[in-house]
Amino acid sequence: MWGLLPVTGKDFINRTAEIDDILRALKDPGIRIGYAISAPVGTGKTSLLQELARRLALEQRVIPIYFSLQSLSDVTLENFVKRFVIAILQASESKLKLRHDAKDLMESPLTILDKLLRDARISDELREAIILLVTFEREKRVDKHGLVEAVFDLPEKIAKETDSRCVFLLDEFTLLADLKPTDERLFDIFSLIRSVHEKHQRCVLVVTSSNQKAIDSITLASDAPFYHQFMLKHLKNFSREATKQLYEKNLDKRINDAALKEIFDFTQGSPFYLQFLGRMLKGAATPNVTEDVAKNAIEEFLHQEGEMIFREKVKQLSAKERLILSCMAQHGVKTPSEIGKIMNYSQTNVRRFLAILEEKGVLVNTSRGVFVFEDLIFKRWLAQQGVVA
Ligand SMILES: Nc1ncnc2c1ncn2[C@@H]1O[C@H](COP(=O)(O)OP(=O)(O)OP(=O)(O)O)[C@@H](O)[C@H]1O
Ligand SMILES: [Mg+2]
Repeated sequence: MWGLLPVTGKDFINRTAEIDDILRALKDPGIRIGYAISAPVGTGKTSLLQELARRLALEQRVIPIYFSLQSLSDVTLENFVKRFVIAILQASESKLKLRHDAKDLMESPLTILDKLLRDARISDELREAIILLVTFEREKRVDKHGLVEAVFDLPEKIAKETDSRCVFLLDEFTLLADLKPTDERLFDIFSLIRSVHEKHQRCVLVVTSSNQKAIDSITLASDAPFYHQFMLKHLKNFSREATKQLYEKNLDKRINDAALKEIFDFTQGSPFYLQFLGRMLKGAATPNVTEDVAKNAIEEFLHQEGEMIFREKVKQLSAKERLILSCMAQHGVKTPSEIGKIMNYSQTNVRRFLAILEEKGVLVNTSRGVFVFEDLIFKRWLAQQGVVA
């Protein structure tokens, strides 16, 4: 199957070593250290997490809770908690023998809610914890600090009661930093999660991030909230072998080695771009994919499809940022002094923009003062665009 959505099950290919390694650790009740998985957009983080969730759900005593923070940017803490509670309850529905969907519980009047939960035969303590979390919005004032504690404590309680282990699979975890600031006293959400989580015996965290700088900032420094709390993994693009496997499995056309080489060299094995080109090739009129067919598809990609893919990315940049990126892409320059010279800007000024672009995950600072594109296809696209101010 070709698509741009995350894949699991039979559509999920390769990554055997990563999956086996992580699964072994997650299933072992003796291991409490989690995983932080980073990789650029489109490498397959969501697919990996969802495949882990699928495989863990087959285990007797494991409750995988997948939750994505992707759509959070404009969301409040309350909204996050509400959606997270629903995800937790839905993931543990069968183990808790809840006969009602979490969303229905949210809407039930208190007396009915209490009755529904009594039917589930869970302890008073767990029932009260659930009631508190599904009804917090009905209160006039909410203690946000306490709310975060309660929501992260819930899986631990569920795990205890069902004699299982809860695995949180939090996709794009670092986006939690973008939650709208709360009116109350400020607290650092990552430090709070860390301090709640470290008391837990039965919960493990697996988190991902597309933003290397953001994940570094919560894991690397000795005073970072998740210092030494995770095994750090960097998910790589597909190898040549995996690329071949993906195309042979999904293309249902013959594709020769020269065409595969073209595609691999262009995409660098990025699963997203591989899928995208695969879809184009499948729709192409020719029965076989030769080097020329592949080259044509790449050209078409750069001149037409790229627009659709990169429009959003470009929208999130200021005019100055775009100019700097265009300059870097067109002239192949990487340092503030080179860029400054061409654009006639001061180096200090350029450096400031490069730092912002690094923060946004568009550029990576490889060594002191050298900046490269995180996504080389974006760079190629920009290079042939002309100036996109
Ligand atoms: N193991 C895999 N086998 C086959 N296709 C894959 C695999 N992993 C990812 N893909 C494909 O790559 C694309 C991106 O996958 P996915 O959404 O999982 O990546 P991501 O790193 O979460 O991306 P984003 O940063 O945009 O959230 C999808 O089209 C998906 O089908
Ligand atoms: Mg994703």
